[in-house]
Amino acid sequence: MTEPETTGAPAPAAVILLAAGSGTRMKSKLMKVLHPLCGRSMIGHVVTAANAVRPDRIVAVIGNGREQVGPHILDYAPDALLAVQETQDGTGHAVRVAVDALSEATGSTSGTVVVMAGDTPLLEGRTLAGLVADHDRSGHAITVLTGEVDDPFGYGRILRDDAGKVTAIVEEKDATPEQAAVCEINSGIFAFDGDFLADALTRIRNDNAKGEYYLTDVVGIAHEDGRAVGAHRIDDVVQTEGANDRAQLAGLAAELNRRVLTRWMRDGVTVVDPTSTWVDVTVELARDVVLKPGVQLHGSTTVAEDAVVGPDSTLIDVVVAARASVIRTHGSQAHIGEDATVGPFAYLRPGTVLGAGGKIGTFVETKNAQIADGAKVPHLSYVGDAEIGEGTNIGAGTIFANYDGVNKHRTTIGRHAKTGSNNTFVAPVEIGDGAVTGGGTVVRRDVPPGALAVSTGPQRHIEEWVLRKREGTPAAAAAEAALTEHPAEGATIETGRRAATEETQA
Ligand code: UD1
Ligand code: CA
Repeated sequence: MTEPETTGAPAPAAVILLAAGSGTRMKSKLMKVLHPLCGRSMIGHVVTAANAVRPDRIVAVIGNGREQVGPHILDYAPDALLAVQETQDGTGHAVRVAVDALSEATGSTSGTVVVMAGDTPLLEGRTLAGLVADHDRSGHAITVLTGEVDDPFGYGRILRDDAGKVTAIVEEKDATPEQAAVCEINSGIFAFDGDFLADALTRIRNDNAKGEYYLTDVVGIAHEDGRAVGAHRIDDVVQTEGANDRAQLAGLAAELNRRVLTRWMRDGVTVVDPTSTWVDVTVELARDVVLKPGVQLHGSTTVAEDAVVGPDSTLIDVVVAARASVIRTHGSQAHIGEDATVGPFAYLRPGTVLGAGGKIGTFVETKNAQIADGAKVPHLSYVGDAEIGEGTNIGAGTIFANYDGVNKHRTTIGRHAKTGSNNTFVAPVEIGDGAVTGGGTVVRRDVPPGALAVSTGPQRHIEEWVLRKREGTPAAAAAEAALTEHPAEGATIETGRRAATEETQA
């Protein structure tokens, strides 16, 4: 479910992304903006929204963890300008670093400049487009995106005069109790007149509770200069919400997931239990797909028409073709063919390709395995580095022994072969088309097409061993009763103990 590539609104001259903070409130070694939700990092969602308004330039301010954050941003916006903020002296300082970089790169700060925080992941491209359009229409110096929240704790509060005009934004730590009671909050997302912004940033000071340069102070400066400040207030407040700690992140992730699922349900996907189903924004689903409870679909996973996934399955970068069924399965980088069935309790590792109508059954692990159309591995097996031909059936409890302790080797099994239960294929080995193997076979040499391979020795019986060695047990009594009724061939029937007939070979 990808966002529209472009919103069609007038493009801003630049979008500035703030991503230099470490996010101490996350208490994490991972930089805050790199924390993931629904298949993308926070900053990944923010850059995706920025891309949707097609700005002439994207300038990203990086600092803490810049060696991870910088390349990560370029993954989403390859042409972005990276500006380094050496010390994190506040959002106003960060924007100043960006504006300096912009002016150096383009020789200009004119036009509409959008500023976005890196930790507001639910913001949508079309909301940003609405903000820009509103700003351009009004000719304001600043338009701030705001929302009315139930609990404004931690946010900058929007202060308005009696006429309702925005006069200032006051931070939590600097707010009087009366100001703190305001529930209209600063999302941290703004559209600016770029030249005004460049000038105002030289005039902000850090004489506040945090000793930082606040971007929000430019609102007061505009007001002093007699320049109008607008608020673009949206009803869908969750788009304005930021995640400063992991509890807020989990809240936003749950909301984004709900939105993703609602959109898929409207598009014809059945989601039996949306509260236990997680689908990344990058996943693609077709009509009449059914997701049962406890399903997580991640990365580039796609599920085609009429396929059923779940209950309790996790798929990462997996292709599920039409009408396939995947039950209680963990899979990554695998391809499941049309009408194929997987699970319950299957583990598909990278490189698993299951053909149309094929089966990977219960307690089966596969890795780098091509299992052709109609081929089946139904029970209790490990299939590693293998190719299994069309229509072939693998017996229960089979191990593809692919690793000799140093190297991995392949096993190739032809078409319409049938291998017995509890086989071991000691790779490298090849089993021909239509071949059959007996139960318990350890296949160390190639089996020609159409041959029957057996490796176990003849079965031996030590007659009446149980009667002699387990005298007095229920087993001995049962055996004795059976032998009295139907004396075994060659056995001498006596009362009490039996004369030992040594071994008979079958
Ligand atoms: C900020 C706003 C607040 C708003 C809230 C919205 C200020 C002073 N406060 O507060 O009004 O309600 O966002 O979520 O602007 N960053 C830098 N360099 C710095 C400091 C921050 O790049 O020196 C980046 C951070 O990485 C982050 C963003 O700016 O992506 C916002 O910083 P954060 O510390 O989260 O600000 P808040 O306290 O949430
Ligand atoms: Ca924040």
